[in-house]
Amino acid sequence: MILLAKLDSEQASYHPKQINVAALVEHVADRVLPLAAEDHVTLKKEVAEGMYIYADEEKMLRALLNLVVNGVRHAHSVVKITAAMNGKQKMLVVEDDGEGISEELLPHIFHRFVKGKQGETGLGLAITRAIIEQSGGKITVENKSDEGARFVILFPGNA
Ligand SMILES: Nc1ncnc2c1ncn2[C@@H]1O[C@H](COP(=O)(O)OP(=O)(O)OP(=O)(O)O)[C@@H](O)[C@H]1O
Ligand SMILES: [Mg+2]
Repeated sequence: MILLAKLDSEQASYHPKQINVAALVEHVADRVLPLAAEDHVTLKKEVAEGMYIYADEEKMLRALLNLVVNGVRHAHSVVKITAAMNGKQKMLVVEDDGEGISEELLPHIFHRFVKGKQGETGLGLAITRAIIEQSGGKITVENKSDEGARFVILFPGNA
């Protein structure tokens, strides 16, 4: 209950501003690098310069960290973060080359306390989705055709 209350109460402390996406991704990578090194996972970045999103910086950092930490945990060897324009939309992608997400789990993966075999509390993705939606974005997930999971975040062009 305390965790759920915390997630809900965070709606009240949302402080949006223009965030440089390249700097945000750099920040995420710096935070994850020690964990990635320990797991022998390479972090790749492909980030368009000059992209901005209007959101709460601390919360966006948390949202992306949750995805990248999951990716590192499940990857065989690589996690890639991409930021690019997708038509008028701004797109952020976090993908790995791990086992992907089981078909049973896939429709429920963003729900609180849903977790797989190597899972921890099952809250990370629920928090991430709440933050992305609070920021006016949308997040989806799919398994890649070859291997691994791909999380795609889209913000409208005016966000
Ligand atoms: N990149 C991924 N590849 C494969 N499975 C994943 C991936 N990301 C998440 N999952 C699955 O989704 C479940 C839910 O993820 P979520 O981040 O919400 O919780 P968690 O990582 O188990 O715990 P925490 O609350 O500490 O983040 C995980 O337990 C795992 O089974
Ligand atoms: Mg997690």
